[in-house]
Amino acid sequence: MMTPLIDPFARAISYLRVSVTDRCDFRCVYCMSENMTFLPKKDLLTLEELDRLCSAFVRLGVKKLRITGGEPLVRRDILTFFNAMGRHLDSGALQELTLTTNGSQLEKYATDLYAAGVRRINVSLDTLDEAKFAQITRWGKLPQVLRGIDAAQAAGLRVKINTVALKGFNEDELFTLTDWCASRDMDLTFIEVMPMGDIGNEDRIGQYWSLNDLRARLAERGTLTDLPDRTGGPARYLRVDATGQKIGLITPLSHNFCESCNRVRITCTGEIYTCLGQEGHSDLRAPLRGSEADLDLENAIRAAIALKPKGHDFDYSRQKVDGQVSRHMSHTGG
Ligand code: GTP
Ligand code: 5AD
Ligand code: SF4
Repeated sequence: MMTPLIDPFARAISYLRVSVTDRCDFRCVYCMSENMTFLPKKDLLTLEELDRLCSAFVRLGVKKLRITGGEPLVRRDILTFFNAMGRHLDSGALQELTLTTNGSQLEKYATDLYAAGVRRINVSLDTLDEAKFAQITRWGKLPQVLRGIDAAQAAGLRVKINTVALKGFNEDELFTLTDWCASRDMDLTFIEVMPMGDIGNEDRIGQYWSLNDLRARLAERGTLTDLPDRTGGPARYLRVDATGQKIGLITPLSHNFCESCNRVRITCTGEIYTCLGQEGHSDLRAPLRGSEADLDLENAIRAAIALKPKGHDFDYSRQKVDGQVSRHMSHTGG
């Protein structure tokens, strides 16, 4: 049995997030600029390289694999990769294969994703208002995403909705969103907007809506209970006692969850970021392309994990001085 991946702070790494493309068919304002330039295709890991890399992580003890982007479903032939990862589910080495998607291509892919072994997906959706949806994604079509969610549920996939909490944008939809998710038996997680990408700081600070405040608003409608369970993700959960609905809160800014961090992320170009909120990273593409020996790759992965920092230091008060994390969420995969 191979020694599992343990970082310098005794945290076992069991969750790998892999961005398979930096491209997306939307341009959410907190994620990308309108005239985003994408990476040349030759810089991206091929599907075969992604397979080899993810398989190495699975050998080293990764149990949960989340495919992200950009929008993972816009990558050509992506199903080939999902099917390839399905073999690790079949062997029992991997416990969960999942993805985070904007939902635009789900109508087309839902059934095939289920067949590949995916059982649970996270769909990003910030508003249920068609005009506001077009505004936040710059041109996305809400009905297309809603059809995708229908298709996913019809295919047997469990859907969790991710909503970025945005001041002055979806504050007024708090209950519309929670009630809609409850009526469709979907979990819902709110995410505090993080200072990433190249959008003006002023805008981003204006967008910050503290989830402490959101929680207080939820509590106005009834009692909330904090739940002890964690899904292996960064969310904390609470229950709306009157309905039993579970709501997740991801609060990188107002509540630091680094001490239980179990994850690392790989960019579409094969860099490993061991913390979303830190710039430090290592290159795995060179070892991947430089040697066919699995041991060389595994050693490169272990060396990268040995550099995992204790935690992130997102801090709006400092962003103005130091500048924000210039990396895009679409590069690192959230
Ligand atoms: P579950 O398996 O459903 O718990 O998923 P998850 O929350 O791990 O994955 P998802 O892709 O839905 O993540 C939602 C968002 O949470 C990400 O896109 C990020 O915005 C944020 N997030 C995920 N992991 C981290 C992390 O390690 N640090 C920080 N600061 N934010 C994270
Ligand atoms: N802050 C918080 N969440 C973000 N996402 C993208 N950019 C940001 C940001 N700056 C979210 C998306 C999606 C997930 C992949 O990351 O809305 O739910
Ligand atoms: Fe695309 Fe997701 Fe970024 Fe929106 S947040 S532009 S859907 S990658």
